[in-house]
Amino acid sequence: MTVKSEERGSSRRSFIKGAGLGVLGATVLSSAPEAFGKGSLTRGDAAILRFLAAAEILETDLWQQYNELCGIRDHELPAGSGNQAFTTALKNLDDDMDQYVHDNTEDEFTHFTFINSYLKARGAEPVNLDQFRTLPGSTATGSANRMRLTNLMELTLDTSWWTRYRSRHKNPDLGDTFPQAVPGLFKGQFPAIPRTDADLKPANHLQAIANTAGFHFATVEQGGSSLYPSLAQRVTDPEVLRIILSIGPTETMHFQTWSDKAGDAPPVTDPTNGLVFPDLNKKPFGGTNFQTNLIMPEPTTTFLGRKFPTCSIIRPTETRGAAMGAAKFLTAMGLFRGQSPAFFATVTTLAQQADAARPHR
Ligand SMILES: [Fe+2]
Ligand SMILES: [Fe+2]
Repeated sequence: MTVKSEERGSSRRSFIKGAGLGVLGATVLSSAPEAFGKGSLTRGDAAILRFLAAAEILETDLWQQYNELCGIRDHELPAGSGNQAFTTALKNLDDDMDQYVHDNTEDEFTHFTFINSYLKARGAEPVNLDQFRTLPGSTATGSANRMRLTNLMELTLDTSWWTRYRSRHKNPDLGDTFPQAVPGLFKGQFPAIPRTDADLKPANHLQAIANTAGFHFATVEQGGSSLYPSLAQRVTDPEVLRIILSIGPTETMHFQTWSDKAGDAPPVTDPTNGLVFPDLNKKPFGGTNFQTNLIMPEPTTTFLGRKFPTCSIIRPTETRGAAMGAAKFLTAMGLFRGQSPAFFATVTTLAQQADAARPHR
């Protein structure tokens, strides 16, 4: 959700262009009114919930892959058998990482299951992306070797949330941009899980993969922290608003946890590809505004323009184009590398429909 507000108008076009699917996306959009059913939800409320269901299904898929390798497998999340070396590397960020990975994964399952079930109860079509489970995932020890919706092995991460949430005078909703915490992650394609057992050594390579995962966790969850309040501004039914206001802050609880853990990623250079994780307590960071234990948002002078007092806020929360902004953000991070044109058409359509919902004014 780092898309600047003035870029939002072009977000849809760039997302579609990137996937090579402009016409297809538009066709699906106009031919799918049945998705909204004859139920009791307005078309806009149903569209927003359907986009959120899709986003949650995609989140679940990525978290499930992490949980198989480095979370806790139990009766709630039985798939996979764990990868000891990767789990140990991740625990260099925090000893409880496996518990947090498990809990985040379980939360995502409940998010999409709840929203889909609510859509059905209100006479709208739930979202099912199963036909797009076409990506081979990791074959490292511990993976459940299933086909996936998302690709965690070629990520390009925008870690500017690190500085955005520490900024006292800037806001992405005003078009401001922010420096990267880990510039290297924004410049190439990196695995966030071991792709095969060959990735389990040398030690600094595996640590770089674990650090990438640590930053990916926070990067995804800060996106959710912005997406829910952005879309909440355009729903009409108080119960739909209640759902969005009740799920959204759990994304923020995830984000804050991961923001804390990312700050504990050991400084390391990956000997196989040169990816550098800097010491974030040293220059150009460090000091009062950048110390790694600043895990609450710094108040900023920018909320609703620059005419009101300083306020500690989620950022961005601009509602225009928020769904397409999220789709573009997830695509740009490489999460869908290898997906089919039909997948991009479906995500584009869901985002267009959500963004067509009218705001309260
Ligand atoms: Fe979620
Ligand atoms: Fe989430």
